[in-house]
Amino acid sequence: MKALVLAGGRGTRLRPLTNTSAKQLFPVANKPVLFYGLEAIRDAGITDVGMIVGDTAAEIRRVVGDGAQFGLRITYIPQEAPLGLAHCVLIARDYLGDDDFVMYLGDNFLIGGIHDMVQAFGEGDYSAQILLTPVDDPRSYGVAQLNRSGQIVGLAEKPDEPASDLAIVGVYLFTRAVHDAVRAITPSPRGELEITDALQWLIDTGHHVHSHVITGYWKDTGRVQDMLECNRMVLESIETRLAGTVDGRTEITGRVVLEAGAVLEDCVIRGPVVIGADSKITGSYLGPFTSIGAGCTLEDAEIEYSIVMNSSAIRGVARIEASLIGKGVEVMPARRAPNTHQLVIGDHSTVRLRG
Ligand code: G1P
Repeated sequence: MKALVLAGGRGTRLRPLTNTSAKQLFPVANKPVLFYGLEAIRDAGITDVGMIVGDTAAEIRRVVGDGAQFGLRITYIPQEAPLGLAHCVLIARDYLGDDDFVMYLGDNFLIGGIHDMVQAFGEGDYSAQILLTPVDDPRSYGVAQLNRSGQIVGLAEKPDEPASDLAIVGVYLFTRAVHDAVRAITPSPRGELEITDALQWLIDTGHHVHSHVITGYWKDTGRVQDMLECNRMVLESIETRLAGTVDGRTEITGRVVLEAGAVLEDCVIRGPVVIGADSKITGSYLGPFTSIGAGCTLEDAEIEYSIVMNSSAIRGVARIEASLIGKGVEVMPARRAPNTHQLVIGDHSTVRLRG
């Protein structure tokens, strides 16, 4: 059994942050979202991983390396353009050989790992297996329709009128039968070779595609609100660990991780909160479900339910909520007069101002 991890893709829904960084490396509780997936693959007993990379290949290679830090052997497979998930399988044909494999979308987040599903697939006699989960608005996902006995009768990619509320989760198990499927299909209206079409082809040609409905936590972290929710979910289970320095005027309630070299002075911290190495936080309030990266500076700031990436600074600004702040960003008050907002913002940014 091998794994095929998809870490290409442009992440347009997370612009402008994805103009300069790979979305799969965005931090959830200060750890790249991709790392959770790689750990789940390792914990399922898989060692060989093919990683599809695109425009952000250099950054991913730098951070993930050869996989040794995870106990994995990673082989990089460049994709010249984001031509679809089934295209990824097509270009990985030589790497995968005739082995069964799990295909894992690098921006998907699944609590509980994949060990059991990988094992069940090994014991079952299916050509493919997908995971489904009920979602409020299935229109942004692949959607499955099941009959009364739970068999898949139809699949559609991002349908305007979904036949059910069951979204296809971004973790798939395949036998070599999928290689015929990805060669047989043609690009969808959005110009991509869809894995959903490949699965439908397998069903239409008499293969058994097994589905399993999960009720555990799953998120595709492709949008800001999903990143924040995922961060909240992981912070729910952190344990307090204070490796940095906390002065006598700081009040901490709830669970807080403070990495080495980080300093808290005269702050109110209401966990769960994680603060990265060498960050300095003074005279500030940090509310629940906040992750502050490494090397950040917060002075006289208030922030909650947010993610701040490495080396950013927030000074004299209250109050920030539900925000995703990139690397090396500065947030500070404008001059007192004239009474205006002053913005220096990259392409495709979103700014919401009050007052
Ligand atoms: C892809 C798949 C979709 C699936 C989703 C899960 O969509 O095409 O079927 O439900 O991943 O994350 P994408 O996020 O590439 O638009």
